[in-house]
Amino acid sequence: MSTIAPTAFTVSKRKKVTTLVFREKKERGEPITMLTAYDYPTATAMDQAGVDSILVGDSLGMVVLGYENTLPVTMEEMLHHCRAVARGAKIALLIGDMPFMSYQVSVEEAVRNAGRFLQQGNMDAVKLEGGRERADAIRAITGAGIPVVGHLGLTPQSVHQLGGFRAQGKTAAAARRLLEDALLLEEAGCFSLVLESVPARLAELVSGRIQIPTIGIGAGIGCDGQVLVTHDLLGLFDRFTPKFVKKYANLHAEMQRAFGEYIEDVHTKAFPAAEHSVDMAEDEWQALLKDI
Ligand code: KIV
Repeated sequence: MSTIAPTAFTVSKRKKVTTLVFREKKERGEPITMLTAYDYPTATAMDQAGVDSILVGDSLGMVVLGYENTLPVTMEEMLHHCRAVARGAKIALLIGDMPFMSYQVSVEEAVRNAGRFLQQGNMDAVKLEGGRERADAIRAITGAGIPVVGHLGLTPQSVHQLGGFRAQGKTAAAARRLLEDALLLEEAGCFSLVLESVPARLAELVSGRIQIPTIGIGAGIGCDGQVLVTHDLLGLFDRFTPKFVKKYANLHAEMQRAFGEYIEDVHTKAFPAAEHSVDMAEDEWQALLKDI
């Protein structure tokens, strides 16, 4: 039995969110909500809460698998987690994040791997990082009927090239290049664009110059939607928290408290109590004692 109070979203019959809904929301000026998820229970909870879109981000590598950055994440790891999320979420638009080296080597590989996200990962769309240098791959993937989200600004797969996880587009030249890239990605066929860690006024300018919705993360209020890494929002990832994150819970501390209480209960034999144990009928017990 669910102990969660139904929200306006859970009581109303929500329809599956599509790429068209993204476009309509931008036209109506209605903010788009997106969160990352990597497993079934989280996907179920956020789908029921009414999030518009779930991104199975390659942030998986850092917040779930414990890698130093997103570079080691493989197609197989991504697809494994995409399938779990897809089993849990029935309404939200599901986006699979293409991992490092799954789309950079050739356009053919990019299309094949994008296709795997839909065929084997049960995603509705894919996301990939980069600007003008990705236009050919994006054209080919969308040409194959696969919706694509672009990703500009701080693109974590280029962490070494960028010299660290640092904000982008802060000079006039860098900002102009980012705007040009946004226009190119729209022209190449992206249906949406993530803007990560860029000045708020630049993100607002870009959002006003392109027709497709922008989804901001550390990009201010002027974007058409917002995304956060769920483990940051929930306070589950304790290695570091980016400045742009608002923590809505502190689950790492809450988990530690619960684990500590369990350990204490086992040590003191407060757990398991009678209500956590299986009983046996007295006559069966007596019959057993007679036999042994
Ligand atoms: O991998 C990810 O979670 C992302 C978001 C930060 C947009 O790309």
